[in-house]
Amino acid sequence: MPKFQEAWLSTAIDLSLPSAYVTAMAKLPIITLPDPILRTQSSPIERVDDETRRLIDDMLETMYAAPGVGLAAIQVAVPKRLLVVDTSDKDEPKRPIAMINPEIVQLGQTTRVYEEGCLSIPDVLVDIERPATVTVRYVDRDGKAQELNADGLLATAVQHEIDHLDGKLIIDFLSRLKRDMVVRRFKKQSRTM
Ligand code: NI
Repeated sequence: MPKFQEAWLSTAIDLSLPSAYVTAMAKLPIITLPDPILRTQSSPIERVDDETRRLIDDMLETMYAAPGVGLAAIQVAVPKRLLVVDTSDKDEPKRPIAMINPEIVQLGQTTRVYEEGCLSIPDVLVDIERPATVTVRYVDRDGKAQELNADGLLATAVQHEIDHLDGKLIIDFLSRLKRDMVVRRFKKQSRTM
């Protein structure tokens, strides 16, 4: 079964980004379950400015360091409709994509099951069936309207991250019993920390 893990299981951290880029960015703490902020409905970004671009850079830095292939702003406690993804393989050049106010305009007919993980829910994997292809409209870091046709891992990653913007998590695809078990485990962990 193909896997989409927001967090790669490998602990290798790739620092192959140009150094000037790295030093300008800051790693942000990632919010994890059971923090209720993850259930926030994020609001649209009205103006793409330097502050937005800085947040994008910080989110990319945070995602690459995790390491992960996707991150939504709400996962770093910013309730704005913004996500970053990069589904390139480790030995490929990086392909960072930042989507501001992403909207799904079309979902493919066929579906595909990926085993998904989430940086906000460490060590939990859920088999999720989603449309195998997706067309997304969004605004890029320069404030320009863009449209992307995604398939494979990228299609799954984009749908996973857009779910975050609506406060939806991978555990919502589980039965209520299993979901409650996961939530209880994270509540217990957060009490002992
Ligand atoms: Ni996630």
